[in-house]
Amino acid sequence: MSTPSGSVAGAVAAIRVLILNGPNLDQLGQREPETYGHETLADIEAGLHQTAALLGVELQCLQSNHEGVLIDAIHAARGTYAGIVINPAGYGHTSVALRDALSCSPLPAVEVHLSNIHRREAFRHQTYTAAAALGVISGLGAQGYHLALRALVAYFGRQRIA
Ligand code: DQA
Repeated sequence: MSTPSGSVAGAVAAIRVLILNGPNLDQLGQREPETYGHETLADIEAGLHQTAALLGVELQCLQSNHEGVLIDAIHAARGTYAGIVINPAGYGHTSVALRDALSCSPLPAVEVHLSNIHRREAFRHQTYTAAAALGVISGLGAQGYHLALRALVAYFGRQRIA
């Protein structure tokens, strides 16, 4: 599990978003680069901090290979964060518990997959977590996380207007 890292974008209280990455994503860069690209998770998180600063969002990034750690992080996010970007990785395809954690969270979540899971093996075509998400972005590489962040910010804006 990587150490949570955060950055504050400006003095005004920023919207806080939790970036969650599931199992084996700590291996990005050396893990099947033909599928997942050459960027490491640290590279992706550094890029996300830049986008977050532009958007006035404060990020906290957490990666874990353990289902319960991800579930605990989703529970703990209530009251502290405004939304979640999650790449559930393999747990998306297997974990009813992770889906339940997202379902019982009041926070909007956007699910991201680096690869296009629908162009891959049949067992990857479905994720349990997708039904608990605001939306799903799949197949756009690291760009998917940036789009997810922007989608959340747009969603928060609509909530304020409504
Ligand atoms: C993944 C796709 C999953 O099927 C796989 O188990 C992963 C990564 C992606 O980002 O493309 O670990 O979530």
